[in-house]
Amino acid sequence: MAIPRKKFVAGNFKMNTTSSEVAPYLESFRLETEKINEVDIVLIPPFTSLSKVSEILGGAQKIRLGAQNMSSEAKGAYTGEISAAMLRDLFVRYVLVGHSERRRLFGETDETVRRKLVTALNSELRPILCIGETLEERQAGQEKNILESQLRAALEGLSAEEISEVVIAYEPVWAIGTGLTATPEQAQEAHSFIRDHLGKLAGTSVANKARILYGGSVTPSNARELMSQEDIDGALVGGASLDPRGFAEIVAAAVPAK
Ligand code: PGA
Repeated sequence: MAIPRKKFVAGNFKMNTTSSEVAPYLESFRLETEKINEVDIVLIPPFTSLSKVSEILGGAQKIRLGAQNMSSEAKGAYTGEISAAMLRDLFVRYVLVGHSERRRLFGETDETVRRKLVTALNSELRPILCIGETLEERQAGQEKNILESQLRAALEGLSAEEISEVVIAYEPVWAIGTGLTATPEQAQEAHSFIRDHLGKLAGTSVANKARILYGGSVTPSNARELMSQEDIDGALVGGASLDPRGFAEIVAAAVPAK
């Protein structure tokens, strides 16, 4: 019997929104999502807004906070970096690790990604590990090899318990910010492959419970169909999360049909 997994929708603001813009955003977004309890919601604003968002949301929020990046080092002479402890201090629960923009534009390697992931786990932050193939890799029929090698590089050797803390986001690089979305069938195929591979790394019980999100040009109009696929447990939304109403529609699309 399939195990029901609570849907998970995260909004990655990227380098958008100032700290003074988040209050009106939250007012509108909270109103629109007030009645939704069936979905885990995570907001991932820039570092400079984390404190404000945390303050507005207060203690026992149903909307959780995530960070877009983090240092793999605990503290010290690393000018410009932000540590896990600094994030924890602001009640941040999740951190994106290995986003393709970090890999592509900021030179993060599989090794960097793994170090950040381990630091996050050791600091009680839950990593959202982003993986996905480029267009050339898909055209060459290499997408599964890429997913497998990224998963292995990040997770191999970790305990099943540690892996159970990780949320995976499948984000085909060619679909990010391009308006091109993977078809529900393409995404489902990749998600099912990822779940099988998690099973090999951590056992089927962990794999069956793992949340695997789809990311790449998710919008209010394609969200429901994507998230109704068996192995798609939610979405990591970039551009479309900047509009509080539109993002609330995506969250609503994650609510299971009665
Ligand atoms: P997008 O970004 O929704 O703007 O395509 C997704 C992401 O990068 O997480």
